[in-house]
Order: sequence, then C-alpha cells, then structure tokens
Amino acid sequence: MSVERKYDGEYCQIHVDVSNHESGIKIFSKGGRNSTRDRMGLHRALRESLKLGTEDCAIQKQCILEGELLVWNDDTRTIAPFHRIRKHVRRSGRLLGAAQDSPVTANEHLMVIFYDLLLLDDTFCARESLDKRRHRLQSLVCRIPGHADIGSREVVTFSSMNAAEELTAVFARAITQRWEGLVLKGSDDPYFTFDNSKPFIKLKKDYIPGLGDSADFIIVGGHYNTDDEHDIGMGKLWWTAFYIGCVDNKDEVCRFDAKPRIRIIGIVDKYGISKDHIVLLNRQGYFTRMPFAMSTPNFDVVLEPTQRIRPVELFTHPYIVELVGAGFDKPASTAYYTLRFPRVLKIHDDRSFGDTISFKELQEMAQNCLAMPDKAQREEKHWRERLCGRQQIDEE
Ligand SMILES: *[C@@H]1O[C@H](CO)[C@@H](O)[C@H](O)[C@H]1NC(C)=O
Repeated sequence: MSVERKYDGEYCQIHVDVSNHESGIKIFSKGGRNSTRDRMGLHRALRESLKLGTEDCAIQKQCILEGELLVWNDDTRTIAPFHRIRKHVRRSGRLLGAAQDSPVTANEHLMVIFYDLLLLDDTFCARESLDKRRHRLQSLVCRIPGHADIGSREVVTFSSMNAAEELTAVFARAITQRWEGLVLKGSDDPYFTFDNSKPFIKLKKDYIPGLGDSADFIIVGGHYNTDDEHDIGMGKLWWTAFYIGCVDNKDEVCRFDAKPRIRIIGIVDKYGISKDHIVLLNRQGYFTRMPFAMSTPNFDVVLEPTQRIRPVELFTHPYIVELVGAGFDKPASTAYYTLRFPRVLKIHDDRSFGDTISFKELQEMAQNCLAMPDKAQREEKHWRERLCGRQQIDEE
C-alpha cells in the first residue's frame, strides 16, 4: 500500500495543453467547477514546475494532473492552516468570508502538491498502476520547495509480519506532525475501480473512537430544513440541525453563579449527529423550546455580527453534549477557532455549564493542537501506544 499524507487543502485537477501558449493551463476544483481564473495565483508555480514553454518540458501534447492547492508560509517554512486559503483564492472572482482574518502577508503564497497523473500525451495513465503513475509523475514534475511538490508517502507491505507496526509508526508520526491524516492506496491499483468502490482508504485519528479532539459543548437551539427532514427520514421533525455554543464567562458562572453567556460557535447538521440523537433532541427539546432571543431567563446569547449563523429557536434548558471533531479551523468571516466537522458522541444528562469547555479554553485547545509539539519524539511514542490500545499511565 502507498501510505500518503492527506493534505488539508483544496482539490485541483489540472489540465495542460502545450499547443496553447496563451491559456494552456486549466484548473478544475471538486465537482468539476472551472476555477482557472480564481486560482490565478497558482499558474506560475504550475508553469515552472512543469517547465512549460521550455525545451526541458516532458509534455509533448497534453496532460491531466491531480493535486491539492495549499498556502505556503516562507517564514515558518510550513504549509499554512486550511483557513488561510480563503485569503488567496477567489470564488467566482470574489474573496469570500475573509473579512475577519488577518490580511494576506507577503510571506504567504499558493502552492500545489501533485499526487496523481491521469493522462500524459496519448497515454491514458489512469488505467496503469499507482506505482507506475507515481513514477511518471516524478519524471514530469520539477519540485520547487514551497511552490510545487509531490505528495509525501511511504510504502508499507501489508503482507509482511510487521505491517501493523509499520503503519502504526507512520500514523503516529503523521498525528505528531499535525497532518490531517493519511490516505492508503493500493500500489498496484489503477485510478478507476469498476465496482464503484472507493479506491482508497482515509485514515484520521478522529475515525478511531477515543482518539479525536473532543470536549463537552452546549446545544443551545435548533434549526429546521425541509430537505434535511426528508433525508433524515425519521418523520416530522422540529429541528434538523443544532446550534452549538460554549460559555464565555465560565469563571463567573462557576464561582459566582452568574448568568451564563453562551457564544454560538457553530452548527451540527445531519452529518454530525445520529438519527437517534436527532429524535431524542426533538422529543425533549419540544418542551423547552422558545423563539430566538439574545437574552433569556436562564442565559444570554452571544453571536458575532459577521457570523452567518441565525438560530431559529432556543432551548430554555440547553443540552450538554460531547462533540468530537477533525481538528480545528476558523470558519469563514470569524476570528476564532472551532471544531472542524463536529459530531455528537454523547448527550449528557448529568452535567452543568461549569463542566463544559469555555470559549477561552476552546481557543487554547485549538492553538495547542495546531502548534508543533515541543517534544515530538515523546509525543510520537505516546501516539504509538494509544494506537495500539495501550493505556497511558502518566497521561495528564
Ligand atoms: C475555464 O475558464 C477559463 C478561464 O476563464 C477559460 O479560458 C476556459 O475556456 C474555461 N474552460 C472550460 C472547459 O470551461
């Protein structure tokens, strides 16, 4: 298996036509959207790494490449967090949701990580094995640090005795390096499968119970959407998605029994909550529902003006839930971090606001998770043990 780093950027399919000097590059994003113009900032890196217009160019006619668009920071010499992409990429000509982020800095620019080659001149490479495609890719692409590169990977022989150990070591290193995860692909597999099965396996730590970034949050209200109600298929519902928040003034709540200020920081939709939990919240929430208000007898609500979240109804007695996410991210137009792809693990019935994560604690947790570890070796060992299911005794 080819065990590849999963890059946390935006998918790109790059079409190159060398006979067309003017507009020989076309870029498509997920879903086939033409983002050639929106991703103008990537054209130079593509030209240079493929040596277009020079005698050294290995493309005679055309090629189709797959890769990931990312932002590189020259100062830290690392890939910048996902949310920085909004600063550099336009959506149909406009920069969206970038108002609250810090501005583009001169030391940041777009980069591309290539990971597959589907067509080269008259050769339909997508039918070839991954190893062969990778080989071709390596002779096609000139690596330019911070601008264009080939995805990093390791090959693990799954038939060998110590395959599990090897994969564990790679995965532990990936987590310690703050990678989004791994993608496992068969080295002999073609790009296409004929039975509609996915030709790869994504591996992220939050896919393994107990290893994701989790904390207790508050479900403060609900939102309804007809299409989602239909998709959920559990009959008539009051709410199909739920607003999550955390307490802004946890200290005062714990020490002086102050009225909680709940900051709404996101939403859990049908993808992040089981049907049973949706039904439970609909049944119980019905008895405590109230129209949205910034101030209620039990708590106040904090909503950032730039947020696109608009709750429809609140619960007079909010629910405390354990959420797990795939790391942290800054939503569009906000200056704070929140869980990425939040999912409800558990609805608690024995917890109070004081037991939940405060807004400040959430920001600290996100920063710690995103920062590179001080003691990488120690952390890597710790993850190897956790992945093997061995409980850490000295866990804090
Ligand atoms: C994609 O957009 C580019 C630039 O706007 C344009 O030249 C090209 O013809 C478009 N291609 C397709 C297939 O729509």
